[in-house]
Parts: sequence; C-alpha cells; structure tokens
Amino acid sequence: MDEPLADRRVLLGVSGGIAAYKAVLLARLLHGAGAEVDVVLTAGAERFVGAATFEGILARPVRSDVFADIPRETHVAAGRAADVAIVYPATAHTLARLAHGLADDLLTTTLLAATCPLVVAPAMHTEMWEHGATRHNAELLASRGVHVLGPDDGALMGGDTGPGRLVEPETALHTLRTVVAGGPALERSDLSGRTVVVTAGGTREPVDPVRYLGNRSSGRMGFAVAAAAARRGARVHLVAAPSELTTPATVTRHDVVTADQMRQAVFALLGEADVIVKAAAVADFRPVTAAATKLKKGDGPPVIELTATVDILAELGAERAAAGATTPVLVGFAAETDDAEANGLVKLRNKQADILVVNDVSAADAGFEVADNRVVILDRDGGRWSVPLAPKAVIADRILDVAVGRLTA
Ligand code: CTP
Repeated sequence: MDEPLADRRVLLGVSGGIAAYKAVLLARLLHGAGAEVDVVLTAGAERFVGAATFEGILARPVRSDVFADIPRETHVAAGRAADVAIVYPATAHTLARLAHGLADDLLTTTLLAATCPLVVAPAMHTEMWEHGATRHNAELLASRGVHVLGPDDGALMGGDTGPGRLVEPETALHTLRTVVAGGPALERSDLSGRTVVVTAGGTREPVDPVRYLGNRSSGRMGFAVAAAAARRGARVHLVAAPSELTTPATVTRHDVVTADQMRQAVFALLGEADVIVKAAAVADFRPVTAAATKLKKGDGPPVIELTATVDILAELGAERAAAGATTPVLVGFAAETDDAEANGLVKLRNKQADILVVNDVSAADAGFEVADNRVVILDRDGGRWSVPLAPKAVIADRILDVAVGRLTA
C-alpha cells in the first residue's frame, strides 16, 4: 500500500494535558510512516512530557520558544512547510485560542501562519467539553474547515469516564492519512467533484388547510451535514422540509412539505448523487385525504384515516440493489427512544443502506431541537463509531468521514 504520509511534513502541536503522553506514540507512528514530523510544544505540554523524548524518537529538534531563532522566523517557516497539522491533544484553552485566532506562543503563531489542513483532537474533562464556550469553539473551528477529531467517550483522569478522552494515536494517524490524501487546500476537499444530496427537517402531512401531522425534527442535523459537505468541496442539494434555518453557503435548497414531495425531489436528483444523506424525519403515515376546508370544532372530533407513505430510503436501497450498483452511498438516520443500536442495525439491513446514524432522541441534551447530538455510526460491514455529545457540525464531519471512506474504498 502506498503510504500517503511518506515524506510529508506533519506539524504535531502538543498542548498541556495528561494525554500529552499519547503524542509521543503518535510521533513514533508518524515517524514509522515516513513522515517528517515537526513537534511544537506549548508551555503546558512541556510540563507533562519532555522535548527530549520527541527528539530521541524523531532525531530532530523540538521547538517551543517563540523567541528562539528570531531571524529564521521559525513559526512562519514551519507553518508554510507543513502538509498537514494536528494538535494532539488540544486542551480547552488551546481550542479557544485557535478558534479566536490568538497567537501568544509558538504553536498558535505557527498555526496562524499555516495554510495546510488542520486536525484538532480535543481532550479534557466531560464538563469542560460540554461547556457552551468549548462547544462554540469546536463549532467555530469546524465551520472554518478544521477537522475536529473526537473526543472519544471513555476513561478520563481521576477515575471519571465520559466524553472527553483523546482519540487513540492510531485513529489520529488514520485521519492524517485521509486528510493528506485529500489534498493540500486549507479547507478539506475530499468531496470535491462529488454531489451530495441531503434531506432535512420534518415533513408535514396536511389534515386540512391549517393543520398537519408533523414531528419535532428541527432540520439542524441535516443542515449541518449539508454545510459540512459544501465545505469539503461537494456540490450539495438540500431537500428541506419546512425549516427556519438559513441555507448554508453554496448549497442548493429544494423546499418540500410532504413525504411524497420529498420522495419526488430526491428521485429527481438521484442520477447525479454520489452520496445521499437522509437526515429528514419523514412521516410514516399521512391522512388519506386532506379536508378542503378547515375542520370545525362544532362537528366533533374528526376521525382521520391514515395511509402509509413510501419509505424513501428503503426504496433507494432496493433500486440500487436491483441495479447491482454500489453508489450512491446511502446514509440513513434512526431516531430511537429504546434499544437504539439494535433497532438501528435492523434499519440498516432492512433499508439496504450503507451507513446508519443512530440517534437516541430520548435524551434531553441531544437529538431533536437542540444544537448538539450524540450518535453511533454503523456501517453495513460491521464498522461502528461512537461519537459522544458534540455540536452537530462536528457530528456531520464524522458522518461524512465514514461516507467518504466508502466512496473512495
Ligand atoms: N425514512 C424515509 N422515508 C420514510 C421514513 C423514513 O426515507 N417514509 C428514512 C429517514 O429519513 C431515516 C430512516 O429512514 O433516514 C429511518 O427513519 P426512522 O423514522 O428512524 O425510521 P422508520 O423507518 O420510520 O421506522 P420506525 O418508525 O419503526 O422507527
């Protein structure tokens, strides 16, 4: 296998947390892959791991002092030279500094001078990761095309467990390989030349001219996927059920109301789609007929006869299977309130999708109507990625990572 990281310059920024020791392992993996690794430590990182360890592994000097070697402008030089940069681990403080463009040490000045793709791998206690300030910073970074990798849900310092654990060095290595293979632009461009169709929001099935059967979907997850796909270079069609949300930049929006209209819009775009992400909450049933005039209270409680709508995702899966094709890559969502993952697996199989994003909508802090989500991503080959509570922009990128993996496989 060609090693995408061979002879590539990787800027490895390490900020100060217990997990900084894992950066040593990542440095070793990168070195083993043939990358030229420039390590930059923050002052905090230096208190957790020593420069000497990295220097021993990499056989090259490690820098941390912005005032060293002023004439050679090392921060600009290192920023320019890098093919890819990663901050591993990224503390809450360093995430905040990067999000707001602060440049108060060698790492942050170097990254401001860098034009290569940037990956940040947050590591912190759950409360810090879930704080509104940190969430906002992660979202800001993701919206600028920065790849926010993790954190994982697992053991933390001091016996705690939860979201906030640094992703493993092997995961970071894999991501760096993918990012480097995706091209040199600041914004990741691994979907450039591809067309992504995203459905979003909750459909409305009319009962009469003023009433409808609807659901609580806000459309935020689907809009986040559309925005992320556009940032990554895709031509994006967003088939949107009624939503107040603003259309993301460069995305073509197709407004629909009912499940049937959504189906027609999706099938009209099918021919050009490389990936279809069905984030919409589609009504499973609709009134057989909508009353032409408003139902009057005085006429007593109406009996509304319902009929099933077509399952769009299942129809897409069946058509693709009948054609013996592997594209478009089909991504479904499962909104569940119990046995989420088991139900998700059943949906993945029954609808013949490639990827299913399982969403436990019974939690108050995630899922419907809120900015965050917590999902498990399953693929048809048994792959499983658990994404702890994070802004929907971050989740969107993780979903697209899996989809891009299948597209390029
Ligand atoms: N879906 C669809 N068309 C429908 C219903 C659902 O394309 N008529 C898609 C959704 O967009 C989502 C996936 O199927 O990607 C799962 O939706 P969900 O509501 O979780 O599942 P249902 O199939 O409706 O199953 P159930 O109501 O039993 O949970």
